Amino acid sequence: MNILYIGDLFGSDSVTYLEKNLNRIKQEYKINLVCANAENVTQGKGLALRHYNRLKKLGISCFSMGNHTFSNSEIFDYIEDSNVIRPANIPGDIGKGYFLINYNGKKICVINLMGRVFVTQSLDCPFKTLDHILETVNADYYIVDFHAEATSEKIALGLDFDGKVDAVVGTHTHVQTADERVLDKNTLYITDIGMTGPLNGVIGNSKKDIIERFRTGIYSRAGIETGDFQFNAVVLSIGDTKPSIKRIHEVVKNFN
Ligand SMILES: [Fe+2]
Ligand SMILES: [Fe+2]
Repeated sequence: MNILYIGDLFGSDSVTYLEKNLNRIKQEYKINLVCANAENVTQGKGLALRHYNRLKKLGISCFSMGNHTFSNSEIFDYIEDSNVIRPANIPGDIGKGYFLINYNGKKICVINLMGRVFVTQSLDCPFKTLDHILETVNADYYIVDFHAEATSEKIALGLDFDGKVDAVVGTHTHVQTADERVLDKNTLYITDIGMTGPLNGVIGNSKKDIIERFRTGIYSRAGIETGDFQFNAVVLSIGDTKPSIKRIHEVVKNFN
């Protein structure tokens, strides 16, 4: 089975892009299931209901999140009855840290975790949280979105859970890494899928606003970059087929 995992959707243009292109991409890569990280859809922070509803219509099986899970407060109204998951190691009990997808008689467990290195948020240990989920949740396949800043923490978790989960895919840095591989015990791994949104922003935000921030040291609200657009995802082949991971990187000039 081929699972398309799309990296951090950034801005509402990312929804429009999927509305126009997801069917073509699914056909091109013979995709059975689609998952996406959706923490940056609404003005770069969180996922408002209107955007969730548009994405849901596209048949995406599960949405993982990250440090921006609760940045748009509308999520409190719908998260419990949705296929949106939030990092399982966030200590509170709002929302769920994993989601079970039923596909062709198989259960696929998608798990969201957040790293703690260079992160100020209060979080439980992602390693022990994943130990606990694997001990208590019965599924045929386990896919982990590890939303983290540090490459070391991502690689460590990938190697620690090699052979215990089917894939560890990184999100959050918004920059696609070229280190995708099948680990020794067949777990698929990539440090970061990369983002789906503006190509020429600073990880999504207006380059002008962010450069100004760095130059002045003054924090002001940043807009979303426009113009050229990028789509970043991976295809995870698991199950009956030989395990493999393939990166996708598409660029559209002058998207808006
Ligand atoms: Fe992000
Ligand atoms: Fe993030």
